[in-house]
Amino acid sequence: MEGHFGVLPFIFLLAPWFLLTLHATATSSSESSTYIIHMDKSLMPRAFATHLNWYESIIHSIKPTVSDSFQPSNSEQSLSQKLVYSYNDAMHGFSAVLSLDELESLKNSPGFVAAYQDKTATVDTTHTFEFLSLNPSYGLWPVSNFGEDVIVGVIDSGVWPESDSFKDEGMSKNIPSKWKGTCEVGQEFNASMCNYKLIGARYFNKGIIAANPSVKISINSARDTEGHGTHTSTTVGGNFVNGASYFGYAKGVARGIAPRARLAMYKVLWAEGRQASDVLAGMDQAIADGVDVISISMGFDDVPLYEDPVAIASFAAMEKGVVVSSSAGNSGPELATLHNGIPWLLTVAAGTIDRTFGSLTLGNGQTIVGWTLFPANAIVQDFPLVYNKNVSACDSVERLSEFATTGIIICDPSKSVTSQIDSVTEASVVGAILFSDDPKLIETGDVACPSIVISPRNAATVINYARTNKAPTASIKFQQTFVGIKPAPAAAYYTSRGPSPSYPGVLKPDIMAPGSRVVAAFVPTKSAARIGTNVMLSSDYNILSGTSMACPHASGVVALLKAAHPQWTPAAIRSALITTANPLDNTLNPIQDNGSSASEFASPLAMGAGQIDPNKALDPGLIYDATPQDYVNLLCALEYTPKQILAITRSNSYNCSTSSSDLNYPSFIAFYSNKTRTMVQKFVRTVTNVGVGDGTATYKVKVTHPKGSVVTVSPETLAFKKKNEKQSYSVTIKYGGGINKDDNSYGDIVWVEDNGKQRVRSPIVVASSGIV
Ligand SMILES: *[C@@H]1O[C@H](CO)[C@@H](O)[C@H](O)[C@H]1NC(C)=O
Ligand SMILES: *[C@@H]1O[C@H](CO)[C@@H](O)[C@H](O)[C@H]1NC(C)=O
Ligand SMILES: *[C@@H]1O[C@H](CO)[C@@H](O)[C@H](O)[C@H]1NC(C)=O
Ligand SMILES: *[C@@H]1O[C@H](CO)[C@@H](O)[C@H](O)[C@H]1NC(C)=O
Ligand SMILES: *[C@@H]1O[C@H](CO)[C@@H](O)[C@H](O)[C@H]1NC(C)=O
Repeated sequence: MEGHFGVLPFIFLLAPWFLLTLHATATSSSESSTYIIHMDKSLMPRAFATHLNWYESIIHSIKPTVSDSFQPSNSEQSLSQKLVYSYNDAMHGFSAVLSLDELESLKNSPGFVAAYQDKTATVDTTHTFEFLSLNPSYGLWPVSNFGEDVIVGVIDSGVWPESDSFKDEGMSKNIPSKWKGTCEVGQEFNASMCNYKLIGARYFNKGIIAANPSVKISINSARDTEGHGTHTSTTVGGNFVNGASYFGYAKGVARGIAPRARLAMYKVLWAEGRQASDVLAGMDQAIADGVDVISISMGFDDVPLYEDPVAIASFAAMEKGVVVSSSAGNSGPELATLHNGIPWLLTVAAGTIDRTFGSLTLGNGQTIVGWTLFPANAIVQDFPLVYNKNVSACDSVERLSEFATTGIIICDPSKSVTSQIDSVTEASVVGAILFSDDPKLIETGDVACPSIVISPRNAATVINYARTNKAPTASIKFQQTFVGIKPAPAAAYYTSRGPSPSYPGVLKPDIMAPGSRVVAAFVPTKSAARIGTNVMLSSDYNILSGTSMACPHASGVVALLKAAHPQWTPAAIRSALITTANPLDNTLNPIQDNGSSASEFASPLAMGAGQIDPNKALDPGLIYDATPQDYVNLLCALEYTPKQILAITRSNSYNCSTSSSDLNYPSFIAFYSNKTRTMVQKFVRTVTNVGVGDGTATYKVKVTHPKGSVVTVSPETLAFKKKNEKQSYSVTIKYGGGINKDDNSYGDIVWVEDNGKQRVRSPIVVASSGIV
């Protein structure tokens, strides 16, 4: 039921999707399913004009299976039925519908590298630009010209092209000549729906159809029916829209983080399913089309890097200088739950925003700011307050109904607030006051009757006033927006935590960006709010929560950095974001974790280096760069087989002669043995001086040792004489016990420029080997 209410937490909204099991169920030898096949293109016989001809011939040559021989079919037909996609940019190979016998036969083809079954993706915003200190008159916005001409490919559920956020007013008419994408025609979608803002739109669903040939695709085009893609893409690069709001809340000028960037949508998420083969096809096409940035708010859980379509496609993207920005997932707060923990892309965690909506004013004039998103300007003015034993449990619709029109009912703070919300809604009360601090409700909840949720800290004030006055009254104000709420940000309770199950040796997530209660454009055909139990409301802008909403904020900042520093590699851009991220909230205290019991600090396993800080990332002082070979060295150290490495790298030009797990990453994670409870680990890092000015700069190190560890940095001073000069240093982390069994501890290394403003910070995590 909650799946129909758009305003409900996106993560709840998607609950039915989460329940879909992987399609990787055991198959009998004659049963067919879709496989993704990696091929070694260097072994393609000269006779084939194209890789597609080669792949087709391979499929042709597969011996028919026993079961197929009972139903003889035209081989042309069976070929077109078997081949789902051929891939050439994100990976070398194809996807095909095969039986196990056919798969076995195919494995004998020359050039075969690897094969695995298609699988299902897990999916994971206008004030946020101000919260990130983006300002039209200084810093990254003006320097990047608001992301002008950077092309962001969004891999998602499509777009609602009529949304005002996709209008191209103010966009230059010279689309960069490298752009090869198109506006693909489909159901309710024609080529004139793209423009100078939305420059491309394509759709991919052959994988879904292969998995379920009888499936009926409801809207067979890049048109969004879910709202997810419209929301994420307009968060990255939506144009300026005056007077946007969610039912009067968060009213203002909507805009994306990079409002002058160009957008291209690759629809791979469908109401009918989400297949790895379609995601690969979307990313493959985005790379071929010439995007600069890929934003992908979804991921694949529990897969090794060499079978993860996002890892595979983003390696090819990284080689071409395309930055891939991805979401960590919504499986927090447990540790080691994140997806997209891939060393060559950006992994984004979600945080809260300094914003809330609505207030309660008591008859004595006292005003309490709370939280409500009731989607109408309900008049709840000077109503009597009802507080009595019979009704205030707010657990009986019958009893509540008796008092429904009497006044504002105060619900008892000691009972479950979620069931109270359901009861007051069903009883159609004229007003209700509920008490909760539960971040689940505050970050992602919903109210469908004229009510307000306030902190239990204020319960005594409200109840005492109601009890001690003969005729207590109150007013609830809706469609009110408050910003500057402290403390903020906090790590969202739901944001998935590191270490990365697919490769724990690199600290993930990388950074945190706003993800809770984000306003962005939405589709008009899906409910965005509800009044009572039966009135569904549509809205052109919706408030959604999730790492899916955090990722496009980071993608937008990446687009701005690409515009400001076109020569920077994906690793350099990620480094700038990590080393300048802010570990403090707006009270200048360490950012809190809404996923653990109150007042605990968010660790780097929850938020990476901290909240993304776009203006600081523009000028990071030093960067930690990495080349494609550096990532290959890491894959070699993982003891992957040559074929597993080839599935990711696609090229035999890489080799394992310089195997190393010590990637030049701007953060540190080291594991102590949970048996011996000790560890000594050495890292070597190389930084490049990208400081502005004449290039001379001296940095001195400042270390915060994780509890129980001693961190030694050598040398402790780095003196640069010119721009782009590189210098190396080593870090030794020695852990000798002293923290509770299986606990993790945290510190950092900060390179502080002499007489300068630069602080280049790297978080450190010392973790128990038991957590991965
Ligand atoms: C595309 O569709 C829109 C809306 O239906 C219509 O106004 C327009 O004429 C169509 N353009 C083309 C080229 O068919
Ligand atoms: C509360 O309920 C009891 C029993 O149902 C009833 O007798 C009593 O009058 C009610 N009190 C109020 C204040 O409504
Ligand atoms: C969760 O975050 C909100 C907003 O930053 C904050 O007001 C609240 O105190 C946090 N809750 C917990 C339990 O930390
Ligand atoms: C490995 O790659 C490096 C750099 O491309 C090259 O110099 C070296 O000769 C290669 N070694 C082997 C054994 O192929
Ligand atoms: C270490 O962690 C592993 C994995 O969780 C666990 O199986 C093992 O029992 C732990 N060993 C000790 C000594 O705690």
